Amino acid sequence: MGFFVVKPISSVNGVIILPGDKSIACRSVIISAITASKTTIENFPANKDCLYAVGVFKKLGIKVEKNLNKGKPSIIVSGKGLYGFNKPKGPIFVGDSGTILRLVLGVLAGQSFKVGLTAGRSLSQRPMRRVTEPLRSMGARIKAKGKRPACRQAGKKAKLEEYPPLIIQGGGLRSITYKMPVASAQVKSAVLLAGLYAKGSTKVIEPIKTRDHTERMLKLFKADLKILRNTIVIKGARELVSPHKIYIPGDISSASFFLVLASILPNSRIRIRNVSLNPSRLGIIKALKRMGANIKTQNSYLPGRQAKPKTQNYEPMGDLLVKSSTLKGIKVRRADIPSLIDELPILMVAACYAKGKSIFEGVNELRVKETDRIKSMSENLSKMGASIEAVRARGAENIVIRGVKELIGSRVSSFGDHRTAMSMIIAGLNAKDRTLIDDIGCINKSFPNFLSILNLLIK
Ligand code: S3P
Repeated sequence: MGFFVVKPISSVNGVIILPGDKSIACRSVIISAITASKTTIENFPANKDCLYAVGVFKKLGIKVEKNLNKGKPSIIVSGKGLYGFNKPKGPIFVGDSGTILRLVLGVLAGQSFKVGLTAGRSLSQRPMRRVTEPLRSMGARIKAKGKRPACRQAGKKAKLEEYPPLIIQGGGLRSITYKMPVASAQVKSAVLLAGLYAKGSTKVIEPIKTRDHTERMLKLFKADLKILRNTIVIKGARELVSPHKIYIPGDISSASFFLVLASILPNSRIRIRNVSLNPSRLGIIKALKRMGANIKTQNSYLPGRQAKPKTQNYEPMGDLLVKSSTLKGIKVRRADIPSLIDELPILMVAACYAKGKSIFEGVNELRVKETDRIKSMSENLSKMGASIEAVRARGAENIVIRGVKELIGSRVSSFGDHRTAMSMIIAGLNAKDRTLIDDIGCINKSFPNFLSILNLLIK
């Protein structure tokens, strides 16, 4: 297998626009598909996960037109209402997208047919009980083919975990009140989507607030949904109404790699246009600012507060301006983890280049992402000379990083995980000597044009 070579660079400068947010885009396909009219989705990202989302609904009989090759990528989804799907001929392959599999289970729980769902190698290793359990209590019948003791999760009793492939037979759902044991936007979303099909009101209570894209989009599509602090209530058995056109703001998770790169390199300045600034996703910006990063938000638009752009009226967005700075170590507490869960790998890179100690508390969920990101990042960064330690304390997993003067290029691995791969490329760009990374094809999962956008910033 060939290695990708990262050579150190001296600075980055320029203006970029990023592909649409993956979480928001996945939800836009699902919710448009269960609404009985056409929805045009602009700035739709052509990454693997989002393309699988489209593929899944095509298998369920939904027409989706794609215009992804032009400068303005969009898709048009011709939804057929809550019950308009066709029963697929065989099992549906969902690729490696946890978001798609878990959220689609929510809508399939409301259908009166049986369907199998198969997944790729990495998703087939990821826990599903967190969604199958609440959906079963709503009345869905779900069988998991893979059952074995849970993978190592600190503080959790070893009960039998469930993994794909799954078979679901939905229909006749009842509403529930569900107190989520784990802070997961995917679990919350699956239950809320199933709640659309249940009689009465379904209530979901979150232990810590997670990203609220599903709630925002359901409201935009006129669902009867109310939010009171950590409790969300959705009324079922009523059809959604399409706004006909939506714009997907740029992905803040993709932006985070450039925010860190411009912060740690000298003489750097980047403007990132039209990024999603959803408060439930701002953890990375807050953490970097606390570390001393020079990040400013400009031209921001808040839904309901200002004149609406024609197609964007549900998610805040704006420009991010980042300049070089000197970073210092910080502590990120457990309650802030969901707001930056996907940005922890790149934040670990920032912490290596910061002065002093950083602590990330209660990061257990990193064990069950596309790969075990505590392992992938600790192994890789240690090879580059970082001081990084995973520490367990009272059931929680914490990461402790002590900043070093410089990282030294080394041979590292993506572990087949997109965010590990991109984080290690950023680490390598500011390191001494070359860094070699195996298998960076996995980047296509979320950000196929990562390297071409990065190259625009390097002189
Ligand atoms: C996502 C939620 C998060 C996140 C994932 C996308 C979503 O997962 O890590 O990349 O779109 O809802 P969890 O719900 O498992 O925390």
